[in-house]
Amino acid sequence: MPDLAVKLNRLSLQNPILVASGTFGYAREMAAFVDFRAIGGIIPKTVTPAPRPGNPPPRTVETASGMLNSIGLDNDGFDQFMTDKLPYLISLGTSIIVNIAAKTNDEFRRMAERLNDAEGVAAVELNISCPNVSGGVDFGTDPSLAATVVGTVREVCRLPVIAKLTPNVTSVVPIARAVADAGCDAVSLVNTFQGMAINWKKQRPVLGNILGGLSGPAIKPLALRIVWQVAQQVQVPIIGVGGIQSIDDVMEFLIAGASAVQIGTANFYNPGIAGQLVSELEAALQLLNADSVTSIVGSLRTGS
Ligand code: FUM
Repeated sequence: MPDLAVKLNRLSLQNPILVASGTFGYAREMAAFVDFRAIGGIIPKTVTPAPRPGNPPPRTVETASGMLNSIGLDNDGFDQFMTDKLPYLISLGTSIIVNIAAKTNDEFRRMAERLNDAEGVAAVELNISCPNVSGGVDFGTDPSLAATVVGTVREVCRLPVIAKLTPNVTSVVPIARAVADAGCDAVSLVNTFQGMAINWKKQRPVLGNILGGLSGPAIKPLALRIVWQVAQQVQVPIIGVGGIQSIDDVMEFLIAGASAVQIGTANFYNPGIAGQLVSELEAALQLLNADSVTSIVGSLRTGS
């Protein structure tokens, strides 16, 4: 049987299929649909230092082959996460990667320090790429700001650090390089693409926040392209995310250079999909005569 385990610097996962932040709640709501122990890990909804009510409704709208969201990092804040949500998450028997966002380096530092004491957390993912809050994407669009956040967190936190990057830049490569040099263990590529929807009969935007982040199958070729470009140019493990909904998609991302993947929007219409993809992975690897996931990462052949 092929070996499904993957290692992204200091982060070890039993298999490469994770569920993406913001698409899986804090896992309780998915308990009826998912065998948590089977999947590679869970990344719960982004947590911020203080509670946030999020953006005005409507906050989601379906689009061709995808959806726009403008949630605005609605969450109950870090203290409540630590006392009410994290104990349940770490009881689930899979890797828990806590996703945090903040407006300043100091806020990132304080949350990262407190996660040090949380037994059972596998890693921290830094959301420096949310397109729906003011200040959300700033860290992630500037290589030097992005590197400073990663460096700050690395200084105070023993956990593996993942930087989740935005595609809403001319090139993700310099940002990935900067966070890799600052010591992150992996990068998640990519967060949503900024977009909008208009109700022309009302001559109004559909979303309360006017703009939102596009996800789902519509963005898969774009995300795949970014994974491949970064894999070619930066020495850092990649977690691919963007429109993955089938085992073919998973294999494409691995072959493009991702060491693991996150399932996002597909969780909304098929909550059991992550487990299903884990169970399909062995057969896909066997089709390539691969004895492990690791052996096919970045194995794309581009020559003649
Ligand atoms: O608006 C949101 O809560 C989305 C967050 C994100 O895309 O990182």
